[in-house]
Amino acid sequence: MTYEEFEKKVTSYGQDHLIKLYERLDEKGKTKLLNQVSCVDFDGAKKLYDLTKEKKEFKDFKIEPVSATDAETMPEELKNECIEIGTEAIKSGKLAVVMMAGGQGTRLGHTGPKGTYDFGLESHKTIFEVFVDKFKEAEKKYGVAVPWYIMTSKDNNMETIEFFYEHNYFDYEEGIKTFFSQNELPMLDEEGKLIIQEDGLIKEAANGHGGVFEALVSNGILEQFKEKGIEWVFICGVDNILAKVVDPLVIGYSIKNKLLATSVSCIKANPEEKVGVLCIKDGKPSVVEYTELTDELRYAKKENGELLLSEGHLLMNLFNVSVIADIAKEELPYHVAHKKSDIIDEHGNVIKPDSPNAYKFETFIFDAFDRLPELGVLRYKREECFAPIKNAEGVDSPETARKLYKAYYNL
Ligand code: UD1
Repeated sequence: MTYEEFEKKVTSYGQDHLIKLYERLDEKGKTKLLNQVSCVDFDGAKKLYDLTKEKKEFKDFKIEPVSATDAETMPEELKNECIEIGTEAIKSGKLAVVMMAGGQGTRLGHTGPKGTYDFGLESHKTIFEVFVDKFKEAEKKYGVAVPWYIMTSKDNNMETIEFFYEHNYFDYEEGIKTFFSQNELPMLDEEGKLIIQEDGLIKEAANGHGGVFEALVSNGILEQFKEKGIEWVFICGVDNILAKVVDPLVIGYSIKNKLLATSVSCIKANPEEKVGVLCIKDGKPSVVEYTELTDELRYAKKENGELLLSEGHLLMNLFNVSVIADIAKEELPYHVAHKKSDIIDEHGNVIKPDSPNAYKFETFIFDAFDRLPELGVLRYKREECFAPIKNAEGVDSPETARKLYKAYYNL
């Protein structure tokens, strides 16, 4: 892109603050900014800004509870049959795991990728290493190194790769297939202007874990799945150290019930718990995120006194490979987060805000659920499958996760 093209583009989109910033950059910086501007979808950024003006009304939807199969009370014979079917699928190499590790551990106060966090076990194992243990255990049990694909963000990709390299892939090199980055979207200020970061470039942020589908397609990983005969992809977050990454029951349950996707759940600990809830929204499988749940729905009860929406979404979802390409074809809806972000003003000064001043845009994996013909829900006991590490202290902290982890593994 030439300077003239740059000037024309930014002026026509009301982003002319970039011109003053351009002038402040050295030659290298100028070239970088021109490249960046040539790639940014300005129409897309405008649409994203328009979203910040929309008010979401959940009242408009019909929200109903979803029905789930409880692994605990499932008839023994059926459960064994499902486990057998799932075991067969794992042994014949039909499972891959995609771990979404693109988020930053900001709430934890950890500066590196979340998976590199040592959550205080005596062994000082990091989150990634705890997962390596699970894969190695599965390898012993099923005779297969289940392929593990790790989704990073542009911010933490190199650090994640280096971490595994430095640790010799924790001797699971055969299974750790690829690190691939999700895409980014520009961040906007409250007037819809592109935010400039300290190095003079446009500030972009990971596009949310809904970006996993598009990233699997654009990085050629979906093709790899097909070539390798992988039929099932378990997609989970990095921060739940009890995530059942290689679980024959969920696969067998899906195959037996002819489901193309199944979400693993557990009952919400209390109405305020910060988990999304699985539900049926306007007749389709869905999740209402905890940040978007109205109090009316949060506290609504069934006649028997149980919470109406109690099926916690744990970010552990199994997809058949056949649905991924279809989901990726069409953009998922964007959710807007109002965040605090340092901003460089036109004079090159760093502005450190006291309150949220910037918009970040994300898509969520579960917004793909309503594109599925049906979604299975398999419920486990919480202590078997959910020990998230989100906050530095208190609920869902290293301390609570450690306790749950030790109890599960009898340590
Ligand atoms: C998330 C789910 C929530 C669920 C809860 C379970 C969302 C929006 N909500 O909440 O429904 O009940 O987990 O613990 O996710 N990540 C990426 N790329 C991104 C953003 C996130 O890979 O762009 C990964 C993170 O590394 C992490 C996971 O997604 O592993 C969860 O992200 P986070 O933003 O922490 O979600 P929660 O608010 O905890």
